[in-house]
Parts: sequence; structure tokens; C-alpha cells
Amino acid sequence: MLWKTAPLLALVGQVLVLENGLLRRPPMGWLAWERFRCNIDCEEDPENCISERLFMEMADRLAQDGWRDLGYTYLNIDDCWIGGRDAKGHLMPSPKRFPNGIAFLADYAHSLGLQLGIYEDLGNFTCMGFPGTTLDKVVQDAQTFAEWKVDMLKLDGCYSTPEERAKGYPMMAAALNATGRPIAFSCSWPAYEGGLPPKVNYSQLAEICNLWRNYDDIQDSWSSVLSILDWFVDHQDILQPVAGPGHWNDPDMLLIGNFGLSFEQARAQMALWTVLAAPLFISTDLRTISAQNMDILQNPLMIKINQDPLGIQGRRILKEKSLIEVFLRPLDNNAYALVFFSRRTDMPYRFHCSLSQLNFTSSILYEAQDVYTGGVISGLRALIPIRTPASGFLLTLKSRFGIFL
Ligand code: GLA
Repeated sequence: MLWKTAPLLALVGQVLVLENGLLRRPPMGWLAWERFRCNIDCEEDPENCISERLFMEMADRLAQDGWRDLGYTYLNIDDCWIGGRDAKGHLMPSPKRFPNGIAFLADYAHSLGLQLGIYEDLGNFTCMGFPGTTLDKVVQDAQTFAEWKVDMLKLDGCYSTPEERAKGYPMMAAALNATGRPIAFSCSWPAYEGGLPPKVNYSQLAEICNLWRNYDDIQDSWSSVLSILDWFVDHQDILQPVAGPGHWNDPDMLLIGNFGLSFEQARAQMALWTVLAAPLFISTDLRTISAQNMDILQNPLMIKINQDPLGIQGRRILKEKSLIEVFLRPLDNNAYALVFFSRRTDMPYRFHCSLSQLNFTSSILYEAQDVYTGGVISGLRALIPIRTPASGFLLTLKSRFGIFL
């Protein structure tokens, strides 16, 4: 181990960019936090506590229920897995809840064609009070994760100062690089600095992190979705240009399948996250998810749009007095995804807008497809007639010939 540490320390000083070539498309997978939080009571609640069993069961579901084959390949542990450090300072999982260790879980995930993500916190403690990665532990912890064959690290920022974060995040990026194992790096750094310049340097972030949390934690409610959406839209001029292949804004997890969203709201979150080129991290119980919610999350055209190779984040381009908003994301092959989003609370609304209002000025005919129903409208030249569901939306995609709706 010693012989490895010296060259690594030297490298940390020099290599400040994350040249891992990972996440050319927004990551997709399952993340424990929103649904399972810090439930560590395996005696009372063995099925739902943060434990090896929970992750193995979710891995089985990801592999067997179609998720993996659609691209949901990350199985991500969040807070509350840590048991402590051994005499040499190596991180250890809770021996009771992860009796076979994290390497075992990584092997299990890999055997099913999945990838394992893990969580730590740059600071004295994780947000829930477990041992964190202080600056002197960055290299050692990066090595530990690589030895365990972990594929993604979410590095949180509780219990640290801005100065420590300014040192620690680039240091961790370099330390991960130096392990030689490709480990995607998810940074919570900007969320701890208010998410905006000048405190946040997005050019630097794009060099050292594959994705980053910009803003508050999502909670299981529509108001939480809206507050995150509003913040992203208010700051879209700053945030939209910094996203792209290998480096993504992360508005946080999908709530779909949990308790707080209606059917239309669940469809709206999926469409909005898709058009924002957001990571698609499901955080629900895949053992009991309904067929209806599975359909939303497993919509192949939706996923194709989210994973579009150009990796351009969409923007809100229209905000109508009628409380209808339109979002647009340019896609590969001359196509576009459009979200017609209604903030109305009365009833479904009949909304007409002209193609030129959406900046489609060419005189060619467009074709549109509704991503949820599959319905196609061809021959659109001037107007798009849309019936937005209550608090919902329609998502459209333009092909070489036009818009799908
Ligand atoms: C912070 C993060 C969340 C989650 C919790 C865990 O609040 O933003 O996503 O990881 O910590 O304690």
C-alpha cells in the first residue's frame, strides 16, 4: 500500500482535471436516499433498512424488470452505510448491515451488468453524522473505493468550510483519476455555495466533476419539484450552457413511484427532467412499484430523448399568461423535444401556439409525436394544438421532418 501512496500524492498535486471520459450521457439508475433515507433499523424493518439486502434486492429488480436494459444501470448507495474506520484509517461499512462488505456488493452489481455507486462527504461527518472524508483522508478513501471496484462516488459537502471544499473537491477528482479506475464523480459542492457564480465556478466544475447538485434536496412533494424547477428556470442562462456530455447539472432524484405526486405530476417530472438533460436517478421501491409508474419511467422514447447524444440541456422558451410554459431541447438529427407544461389548477386546458412562437420559422412541414401516448400529428405547418393535462404537459420531438408530439 505504501508504495502506491507516494506516487498518488505526487499526482494529486498535478492532475487537476477529471479525464475519465465517463457519463457522455446523463447517468441513469437507482439511488437510495429519497425513498429509504437513513433507516438503519434492520431489526424492526429488515426489508427497508439501508443494508446489503436492500441493495441486492434492488439490483435484482433492476436486472430482471427491464430497467437495466433501458439504461438504468447505476445502483447507488447514499448516506448511512459507514460503520467507521479501521486501525489504519480505512473506511468500513457497518458490519451488521453490510456483513460481506462493499466489494461483495460491487461484484454482485457487476455480475448483473450493473454499476455500484457510493456516497461520502467531504468534511468531518456525512450529513447524517457518519465519518466523513477530511482532507487528509481524500487519497486513502479514493483508493478504498477503487479497491472495492466502485463505479461512482457522490461526494456531499456537510460539515466542511468553503475553503475545505475548494481544496477537497479538486483533490478528490485527481485522487479518483490517479486510482486508474474509471469512477464517475458526483459533486454536491455547488449546492453548498448557493449554486451560482461568483461563488460557484462552473467551468472548473465541468473539468473535475461528471455531475453536480446545484440546489436543494428534493422532497416527496409537488411543491418541492416546482421549487427546484423554478430555481433552474430562473438561472437557466447560467446553468444551461454549463451542461453537456460528461458534465451535467443534477436537479436531484425522480420521485415517481413514491407518495407525493399525482399521476400527471409524475409524468410532468419525468418530462421536465428529460428535457433538462438531468440524471435519471429513480428513488423508489422497485419491489412494489405500480405498472403505471413503471410505464412512466420506462418510456423508451422519453429515455431516448434524455440520452440524446448532443447532450444539450433544454430551456424554458415560453411563459404564457394562461400559465402554460413551453420548454425546448434541441436533439440530434434535427429533432426537438418540447414540453408543454401547465401550472393551472382548474382543468385540462386547450392551448394553441404557433410554430413561429416556438422559433420554428421554416416553411417545411413538421411531424409531432406525443411521447406518452405515441400519437402522431403529421403535416403541421403553422399551429400546434395541444391539450395540456391538468398540471401536466405534453412532450414533443421533431424529426428530420418536424416535431413529434
Ligand atoms: C444531503 C444530500 C442528500 C442526501 C443526504 C444524506 O442532504 O443533498 O442528497 O445525500 O445529504 O444525508
